[in-house]
Amino acid sequence: MNAKAFAVAPPDVVLVTGGTGFLGQWVVKLLLDRGYTVRATVRDLKNTPRYEFLYTVSAGADKASGRLSFHQCELASEAGWDDAVRDCRAVVHVAGTINLDATDARKDLIEPALMGVRNIFGAVTRAGTVKRIVVTSSFAAVSDDFAEFASHTYDANDWNTKSSETFNAYAYSKTLEEKACWEYVRHSNDLSLTTICPGSILGPALNDDMGYVNRETVFRFLKGGVPTLLDLNLSLCDVRDCAAAHVAALESVDSIDKRYICTHDAVPLKDIVDCLGAMSPRFKRRMPARKLPTRVVLWWVRFFISRGTFQNLKSTLGKRPGFNLVKERAEIAMELRPWEETVRDTAQWLIDHGLVKS
Ligand SMILES: NC(=O)c1ccc[n+]([C@@H]2O[C@H](COP(=O)([O-])OP(=O)(O)OC[C@H]3O[C@@H](n4cnc5c(N)ncnc54)[C@H](OP(=O)(O)O)[C@@H]3O)[C@@H](O)[C@H]2O)c1
Repeated sequence: MNAKAFAVAPPDVVLVTGGTGFLGQWVVKLLLDRGYTVRATVRDLKNTPRYEFLYTVSAGADKASGRLSFHQCELASEAGWDDAVRDCRAVVHVAGTINLDATDARKDLIEPALMGVRNIFGAVTRAGTVKRIVVTSSFAAVSDDFAEFASHTYDANDWNTKSSETFNAYAYSKTLEEKACWEYVRHSNDLSLTTICPGSILGPALNDDMGYVNRETVFRFLKGGVPTLLDLNLSLCDVRDCAAAHVAALESVDSIDKRYICTHDAVPLKDIVDCLGAMSPRFKRRMPARKLPTRVVLWWVRFFISRGTFQNLKSTLGKRPGFNLVKERAEIAMELRPWEETVRDTAQWLIDHGLVKS
């Protein structure tokens, strides 16, 4: 029998790194809902508001239940990882820094990501109890240049070969990080890995944190004042579906040592804007009507945005990638809700938190 064919099931103990973040919090919730005992890493245990909301996200997993605990760990430091991993059956490694504008890519992105892999896999090896690791990679590790694959439908065999320390450094750091994880398990007989490569993650958060730029994009449109529509297509997925894919991967033996993409075919920004505009007359009035040609946008925006954001825009502007998710559907029953629901729920979250008026 394949020693890797090990199923993780409740009430096993699972460590979630980055459990306070947008995606990690949904992974923590879904695991608790299914009956797992969850440990989550935080960077500062003294900052209780950053993580104590997680005691309220799942019935029967409050502070007194003992089913949820927190460990202070920093990706770039060895401290704390052995305690966090001890007696765990599985690790879901979500933690990471998303920064398109890092001034020192090696120090700010690449080193923390690679040191995180080394520290986590090192602790896992020492503990000897962990059988499954699921890692949040990114579509950025699949490709960052849609032109290269103009007539190509992406699947999990594709790898980003274009990025470098000076070109789309965030995408490069995610690619190096995922490759380092695969290298660790390549020689292991009983530790299995699944990586999930999400597109842009949207949807509601479980806390009050406005968080990552994707929700800010919706926010900016809803606030009004965006002068023009870019010829941009967003490869997006819902945070709830993405978290569910992580949990399904953890529990499936079909997912052992596999890589999965988690995103819809890219959605034109114009369709997203129309979807938001249909939510209320006020929103409709705020949506940009004009669309500038890609050439003009690229010439114009370079004066206003950072180099990293410009590089990212240049790789994607005017391109509309599609994805083949046959394997994902068959092996981890990946279901992506309609993107319109995700966009509307993102907007509703912003309304409910008093950030925009409908
Ligand atoms: N959001 C997207 O559109 C998207 C798309 C593709 C892939 N991803 C990947 O998904 C993962 C999570 O993204 P997210 O949107 O949930 O981001 P997020 O909301 O910013 O959350 C990031 C989490 O990682 C933790 N973290 C960051 N740097 C760390 C470090 N140096 N040491 C320890 N913990 C650290 C944060 O802890 P604190 O609470 O201490 O801040 C937080 O819990 C990342 O790996 C990202 O690359 C995201």
